[in-house]
Amino acid sequence: MQLSVRALSKRYKTGDGVSGINIDIQKGELVTLLGPSGCGKTTVLRSIGGFLEPDSGDILIEGQSVIQLPPEKRPTSMVFQSYNLWSHMSVYDNLAFGLKIRKKSKAEIQSAVEDALKLVRLSGFGKKYPAELSGGQQQRVALARSLLLNPAVLLLDEPFSALDAKLRHEMREELREIQMKTGLTMVFVTHDQEEALSLSDRIIVMNHGRIEQIAEPQRIYDEPASLYVASFIGKMNFLRGVAAQESIQIGDIHLPNEKNLDGQVIVAVRPEDVQLQFIAGDHPSLAGKIKQVMILGHYAEVTVDLGQLGVIRAFLNKDRVEQLHTGKDIYVSISKMIAYPHEESY
Ligand SMILES: Nc1ncnc2c1ncn2[C@@H]1O[C@H](COP(=O)(O)OP(=O)(O)OP(=O)(O)O)[C@@H](O)[C@H]1O
Ligand SMILES: [Mg+2]
Repeated sequence: MQLSVRALSKRYKTGDGVSGINIDIQKGELVTLLGPSGCGKTTVLRSIGGFLEPDSGDILIEGQSVIQLPPEKRPTSMVFQSYNLWSHMSVYDNLAFGLKIRKKSKAEIQSAVEDALKLVRLSGFGKKYPAELSGGQQQRVALARSLLLNPAVLLLDEPFSALDAKLRHEMREELREIQMKTGLTMVFVTHDQEEALSLSDRIIVMNHGRIEQIAEPQRIYDEPASLYVASFIGKMNFLRGVAAQESIQIGDIHLPNEKNLDGQVIVAVRPEDVQLQFIAGDHPSLAGKIKQVMILGHYAEVTVDLGQLGVIRAFLNKDRVEQLHTGKDIYVSISKMIAYPHEESY
């Protein structure tokens, strides 16, 4: 295991913080800490990097505990949200600084800096100063600087959040490429679920200082472990259902009761797993009325009022919505759902 976090706990004087954090990351993995503002992502990352002293727990890198070591002695390197470049130094000197401290030869430094600039697609930018660069370019320099320290684990705390959407997208792809080229182990913090889904080998979903689920992106999307994860990741419908023995009943629809739940349940359904028909048909369906049709580029979001059961949203191909309009009677069927105990609601 490249990085292990064991029973980490850190509570600030206010009582906020994190508890019971257990994480194992393999060499070459890119793992994302995902969760809303204040859930404790930075607290975990700074504890790994040595910028924060946890109350209890241990952190092991390549099998060795690093908990007693200051940041500069740990085999980690951190990229911050604000780029933290030295404005009075050229890009080259910003990058060379850490290597000079490590007493590398001039020739070694020069070739390493050139390689790093090439990796972040900034070859030839060495003589420029940070103020002469765009936000995205500055963040790439900051990334290159961290890569040059050759860490066992690279820590990134919302490194792209100050960039506009298009640039953020590009930087994501570049980071993924760099990771594939270098095989570096990375822990990436974000509150952006799309960023996490697109970038990660595995995602750690956090809520209120605790871990809710650790899994591959597809798994997090298809099988959210809790109602919280179901509501945080992607678009989701929530309906009331009743579980009894083998089936879960939502109106006239019966679906398998895979978790053997009992009594009142909350049923989560992805909009792409909702089908609409004009007639009731052979399959059991729910009768409703169209509430709204919204065209969103190549697809449409159709909201259907199911009366007592609530409201459900469906994604349809744009060319299928021509005959749909507000107030029209419609029948809804559901191809896949995940049920949660009612008491889990928050
Ligand atoms: N130095 C501190 N003293 C007291 N409370 C703190 C301190 N740093 C963070 N907190 C609190 O601890 C909790 C977790 O903070 P943390 O910075 O880890 O969250 P985060 O998930 O990184 O949030 P964001 O997405 O906003 O960066 C928050 O409630 C925050 O207010
Ligand atoms: Mg943070």
